[in-house]
Amino acid sequence: MIKGFSKLSKAEKIDWLAENFFYEKDKGIETLEQYVNENAQLQQLHDEFIENTISNFYVPYAVAPNFLINGTSYVIPMAIEESSVVAAAALTAKFWSSRGGFKATVLSTTKVGQVHFTYEGSKEVLEEYFLSVKNKLIHATDHITANMRKRGGGIVDIELRDRTSDLENYYQLHVRFQTGDSMGANFINSCLESIAASFQKEGIFVIMSILSNFVPECLVRAEVSCKIEEFFPENAEMYARKFVQAVEIANVEPYRAVTHNKGIMNGIDAVVLATGNDFRAVAAGAHAYACRDGQYKSLTQAEIKDGNFIFSIEIPLSLGTVGGLTKLHPLAKLSMEILQNPTAPELMQIVAVAGLAQNFAALRALTTTGIQQGHMKMHLMNILNQLEANVHEKELISEAFKGKTVSHSAIAEYLHLLRTGH
Ligand code: MEV
Repeated sequence: MIKGFSKLSKAEKIDWLAENFFYEKDKGIETLEQYVNENAQLQQLHDEFIENTISNFYVPYAVAPNFLINGTSYVIPMAIEESSVVAAAALTAKFWSSRGGFKATVLSTTKVGQVHFTYEGSKEVLEEYFLSVKNKLIHATDHITANMRKRGGGIVDIELRDRTSDLENYYQLHVRFQTGDSMGANFINSCLESIAASFQKEGIFVIMSILSNFVPECLVRAEVSCKIEEFFPENAEMYARKFVQAVEIANVEPYRAVTHNKGIMNGIDAVVLATGNDFRAVAAGAHAYACRDGQYKSLTQAEIKDGNFIFSIEIPLSLGTVGGLTKLHPLAKLSMEILQNPTAPELMQIVAVAGLAQNFAALRALTTTGIQQGHMKMHLMNILNQLEANVHEKELISEAFKGKTVSHSAIAEYLHLLRTGH
């Protein structure tokens, strides 16, 4: 147990860690400090994002070009460590750009926050009280909502919800918001706390006030379609059917659905992170939506209709293009520029497309060659680095394994052969 850790300087924190945990003290310190020293100004900014920063944690930042979305061409920035994700996105973007591209539509942009409270008196009295103060509750937030209202946002409605059949004396104020181009978490939470304070009366016991990351009314849909014969160079109909069956399996089998949706989130989270948005909120909301009717299912749908292959996603995405880290984090700011400074609804469309593209790439690989061919090809460099191969060895092995199936043991064996001659 250490007391007052947050009060220590960064160097003192690092020393304490090195003393207590690092196997090789100097090497550990060097690893941490190398990133800190790289850019003092950036480090200062990061130190102000969170507490107890001791370094920066780097994740690869890449772009996937050629995404045609509603007729506009996009280059999509992605922050992700997984080997094959960006390559898969780029390949899929190219594939669909010659088949009409992606069509995306925002279905709704409403967000929700709740004041959770208990009330022991009669429901009728509470309802009467709520109706008598409803306007006052909305106006209690005027000082917070003024700017947002100018931008077309604000509180849409407040509803009193009786949840006493689920939990004794439990009620909610269920508040719906529009938050313009901001994700709106701080805005929503501040409004809720003002509403809760104004709602106080004898007998009402406020438990907590907080936004919900379940945003089924902040929904976007993206779709691709093509003639079946354009789906695959040979046996197109068989492969299109196999693809549709793969989605059907994810709709009936949760073990598969979780992996299927994880693949979708590979694309979604990478863009959400690259644009400085809250990927935990997005992931929580997406998975909750995937089981909205009681069983965890696929977030995408596929069908063959009138000779066409149609593949779509419908997903709730609460995103911002202003506020939060979107303009503070230098790379997030640059991501927005690469995306041509989208509005929040435009970013919803782009992110949904990234998810759909990733699922397309995964299912196409799974139902044709299998996933490992492409995955291990991209993973080859990670294996070579793990085995501490030098530049020359990397070149020789990359050449030798071109078009062949890559596995850790096969690479290790080949490297051993190169080094020892047997
Ligand atoms: C790997 O990160 C994602 C996949 O497992 C997704 C899927 O199986 O659909 C390839």
